[in-house]
Amino acid sequence: MKILHVAAEVFPLVKTGGLGDVVAALPPVLAERGLDARLLLPGLPAIRDGVRAQKKIAEFGPAFGAASIVIRHGRMPETGVQAYVIDAPWLYARDGNPYVGPDGQPWPDNLQRFALLGWVAAHLAFGEFDPFWTPDILHAHDWHAALSLAWLASHPAHPVRSVYTIHNLAYSGDFGLDAHAELGLPRRLFTHEGLEFHGRGSFMKAGLVFADRITTVSPRYAQEICTPEFGCGYEGVIGARRNALTGILNGVDYKLWDPTTDRYSDKLFSARSLDGKAACKAAVRASLGLDAAPDAPLAVIVSRLTDQKGMDLVLAALAQLLGRGMQLAVLGEGDPAIQEAFVVAGRLNPGRVAVHVGYDEALAHRLIAGGDLILVPSRFEPCGLTQLYGLRYGTLPLVRRVGGLADTVADASHENLQADAATGFVFDEASADALGAAIGRAADAWADRDLWRSLMQRAMARDYSWGTAAKKYLSLYRGLMAQ
Ligand code: ADP
Ligand code: GLC
Repeated sequence: MKILHVAAEVFPLVKTGGLGDVVAALPPVLAERGLDARLLLPGLPAIRDGVRAQKKIAEFGPAFGAASIVIRHGRMPETGVQAYVIDAPWLYARDGNPYVGPDGQPWPDNLQRFALLGWVAAHLAFGEFDPFWTPDILHAHDWHAALSLAWLASHPAHPVRSVYTIHNLAYSGDFGLDAHAELGLPRRLFTHEGLEFHGRGSFMKAGLVFADRITTVSPRYAQEICTPEFGCGYEGVIGARRNALTGILNGVDYKLWDPTTDRYSDKLFSARSLDGKAACKAAVRASLGLDAAPDAPLAVIVSRLTDQKGMDLVLAALAQLLGRGMQLAVLGEGDPAIQEAFVVAGRLNPGRVAVHVGYDEALAHRLIAGGDLILVPSRFEPCGLTQLYGLRYGTLPLVRRVGGLADTVADASHENLQADAATGFVFDEASADALGAAIGRAADAWADRDLWRSLMQRAMARDYSWGTAAKKYLSLYRGLMAQ
């Protein structure tokens, strides 16, 4: 089976969040199971420069505002996964974030930038660019790739099947309906049954209505997005396609995220030999200027600093956290107001709160290795990867009971402790008090070192490798091909 994964980012070349991790990890695990899984990526600078051994396979234009567009074929560094790159400097050769400009606003030509990605995906699938390869299944990730499904739908007779994976419903990509002329998509697709959404066009809706199958990245989020609370207005559209929807939990690439081999870790450690973890904690404290307080638990955050991630709740519960003798180390960037509030909190609590604004892959690993607790109090969380990383490193996740967090972390409740199932701390209400209470419970557990150690060891033994997810995607693809 031949699968084309279409996405806007891929680790290690471009990554703004978990999407990049997933898009990097899934094709190689599918390849291990005998599939020919390839990538189609926009030629953002790091992708254009980072995909190896590129050969030009097609050139066309002008289109989508770009004078000339070149399609190249090469291989991903490290995994060797085959990748098609759309080289269109006018649209993609920009530094910084792939989705937003330096002002924090979406790039003004995002319509053209991601319409092109979808258009090339569909036409690659129709056999227009690579005479030696066409996919059986086009698998689009998030709104950036979703317009590909409208182009498939605009072509009456083609054998290509399609899958659309929602990584985050909150980002949907919308545009004026008059864009259809510019895009060259038939007007009949721009209706309520098509990609029209509240008087605008929506990339997300194109994915939701035109894909043969829809997946999202945890079973719980698959249920949640059918409700008004989490559906971002799409709950009706998604509900109508419930039979086509599955939740498949993301995996973790343990080649990158494992305390026994981590290339960034200050010291390696394992569940059986935890001494190295203390060294990791000491190193993190020293490098971030936190006090060397031997009895204080270190809570860490590695996150986009946004409302989604409940970062305002952390700020509001900070006094409770510090009041229980914990320290906090934060790595993240995002919403300027939240970012600034964390910086101020760091300044006001020297030695106890350390804040590093920015994106830093090495520091992310070092914090997750050196922390005792990782805080993920999200308002919604399609899957979440950092709690899974935390589990593997014995850095107990403290999470809100939503989406993938609810699916992967078992609260240290009396029942779960009795059943040998507890791996972290889970709370319900999105409030500073509820978060503070969970922090209090974590502090109580910390005081009982045997209990804490047993929680760590159980957490570290949890297996969220990609194998399970790969099997589920495989069976989804097989089902689709059998139709
Ligand atoms: P989301 O995709 O919603 O941001 P995930 O938990 O799925 O959340 O994935 C976040 C990914 O991005 C993880 O791999 C995490 O380590 C990484 N990450 C988030 N913020 C930073 C940062 N400031 N520096 C380095 N890595 C980060
Ligand atoms: C999104 C979600 C996150 C998920 C990631 C990878 O960014 O916010 O929960 O883990 O995609 O699927």
